Amino acid sequence: MSTIDAPKGVMEYLPPESAAFLDVRDALSAPAIAAGYGYVELPTFEHTELFVRGVGESTDVVSKEMYTFDDRGGRSLSLRPEGTAGVMRAVIQHGLDRGALPVKLWYAGPFFRAERPQLGRYRQFFQVGVEAIGVDDPALDAEVITIGDDGFRSLGLTDFTLELTSLGDAKCRPAYREKLVAFLDTLDLDEATRERVRLNPLRVLDDKRTEVRRKLVGAPLIVDHLCAECADHFAAVRAYLDALRVHYTLNPRMVRGLDYYTKTTFEFVHHGLGAQSGIGGGGRYDGLMAELGGQTLSGIGFGLGIDRTVLACHAEGRAVGVTPRVSVFFVPLGDAARVESIATMGKLRRAGVHADLAYGTLGLKGAMKAADRSGAAYAVVIGDRDLQAGVAQVKDLASGEQSAVALTDLVASLKEKFL
Ligand code: HAM
Repeated sequence: MSTIDAPKGVMEYLPPESAAFLDVRDALSAPAIAAGYGYVELPTFEHTELFVRGVGESTDVVSKEMYTFDDRGGRSLSLRPEGTAGVMRAVIQHGLDRGALPVKLWYAGPFFRAERPQLGRYRQFFQVGVEAIGVDDPALDAEVITIGDDGFRSLGLTDFTLELTSLGDAKCRPAYREKLVAFLDTLDLDEATRERVRLNPLRVLDDKRTEVRRKLVGAPLIVDHLCAECADHFAAVRAYLDALRVHYTLNPRMVRGLDYYTKTTFEFVHHGLGAQSGIGGGGRYDGLMAELGGQTLSGIGFGLGIDRTVLACHAEGRAVGVTPRVSVFFVPLGDAARVESIATMGKLRRAGVHADLAYGTLGLKGAMKAADRSGAAYAVVIGDRDLQAGVAQVKDLASGEQSAVALTDLVASLKEKFL
């Protein structure tokens, strides 16, 4: 019978690489937990309308990359391409914004975008994200950005830049947009770029082609046209980041792929990853909650890419996911020894020591090979004669040293080595 592969472009992690995945996921979420963010586990699919309204119909993410399907009741659903819209939906639906503010939440899980797959760009990928809702305080912007920066740094990453800008708000952006369109109208641009000027002129500033970039020199930039409130907010964010010793580079041409951003916007860009260099990004989205039918509350958050962060760790030679899978490996020789080993292993596991056993019908040689492969520090060999003598042979797999330990002391003696 023919075999079946996973669909094209989806990311999956198997041992031993999956240990790196878990390490990265946990390292990126630890600073959020430490800062009082509560965990949310949300559906991987939502009503399509949520993303159309929340993320923006004109974005590539919604118009070209969503996995959209009708359920059996004829309702249009989409696999979530990002996390912010779903978090806002849940906050509104469950009234989390009726209590103390800010509401601080974090999440981790799979997201789906039908992009052209390449290294670092997948159709199912994984993010750790945070959202802080309900307080328009620049110190909260600095907190969110610092959580991201701390997460990457706790993995030992250094070869990345935090790019920062402000995109203004509903007060100053429309006037700026007009100025930008007036400037872009004076340029000789191809048809596709003209269309982009019509849909989202800010996105034209991010064009990667040199001939277009050359034409864009002298384009008005939003940071020079912020209203007083946005300018003050941005200055305060920078001052807090300076106080926190978080380094950033101003990038006034930054454009994000989602429509909801206002004011502070940022991206973590890694220098060892080639084209897919964005390891995380986020910003404020002060109009999103009202757009989704909720109160007029501000919000800020980020999404960090777990897959790309794993690649970044490899690119920088950072050891992740190298902890041995188990500490103790049991090698029972004979049926009675097997019962004794299983009982002892159960006690050890319940005490928190990672342990495994040579299952099946391996001989001593095969079982010792399995012990080596397991990464365990000790093998516990119990034969019939050991059992009669009331001992187990505990072998240090690194040095090869072996000693007999009384079965009655075995759990305590092994616990002592690891706990
Ligand atoms: P985003 O920039 O679209 O933002 O995605 C965040 C991160 O997810 C990216 O920096 C990247 O590391 C990773 N990522 C995105 N697409 C892919 C892909 N196809 N393959 C692999 N990794 C990918 C958001 O999703 C916003 N919801 C972030 C946010 C939260 N803004 C405010 N709150």
